[in-house]
Amino acid sequence: MFISIKKIDYNNKDDSRILEAVLNNWFINPKELNLFEPRLKYPFNYNKWKALTYNSSNVESFTLINDKLIIGIGSILFNTDSSRAHIMHIFIDTTYRRKGLATKIIKYLEKLANKKKMKILSLRLMPKNEPAKKLYEKIGFQENLIQDETLTNSSANNKKTIKLYKQIN
Ligand SMILES: CC(C)(COP(=O)(O)OP(=O)(O)OC[C@H]1O[C@@H](n2cnc3c(N)ncnc32)[C@H](O)[C@@H]1OP(=O)(O)O)[C@@H](O)C(=O)NCCC(=O)NCCS
Repeated sequence: MFISIKKIDYNNKDDSRILEAVLNNWFINPKELNLFEPRLKYPFNYNKWKALTYNSSNVESFTLINDKLIIGIGSILFNTDSSRAHIMHIFIDTTYRRKGLATKIIKYLEKLANKKKMKILSLRLMPKNEPAKKLYEKIGFQENLIQDETLTNSSANNKKTIKLYKQIN
């Protein structure tokens, strides 16, 4: 299995068409959507998803590709004023889980954040999302590392989620 990481742009028409097809297929399962993006109700609505996060020019998005197929995604929001970056929407296709792919894309995003001189990485998750919690803790993310909420976006107001942090510089 040769997996590559490719940048993708939700605001590019061709990329967006491909992402819409992939995400519609992934989120046929309401449970997957609920744990992943609690701000959205089932059935999955791609345009709402896009509008919630991807209108900002500070967000960069990436796909994991296996033989031309998208098998995973991940995005990162950069806040250069505060030197903080927020990782979002890490998702691995069910057939490709437990092969180190989420770790691979998160490490890639961490390297990118490092290059851009970010100091703190954060991310949010639902407390009942045990696989994600284990994954993030293994990579070095911790709760209560940082007190303030500089990197606020609409997800930061979501009371159902917890925020984890990692110091990278
Ligand atoms: C959570 C998710 C991203 C993990 O992706 P993955 O590619 O399977 O993760 P990795 O293979 O890199 O796992 C690394 C480590 O995380 C932990 N982990 C991952 N999935 C786990 C699971 N289902 N149960 C327990 N631990 C798990 C393990 O410690 C694992 O290491 P190991 O396989 O050597 O034991 C994936 O299950 C997924 O896409 N879930 C749905 C979307 C989601 O919840 N995203 C996170 C939103 S905050």
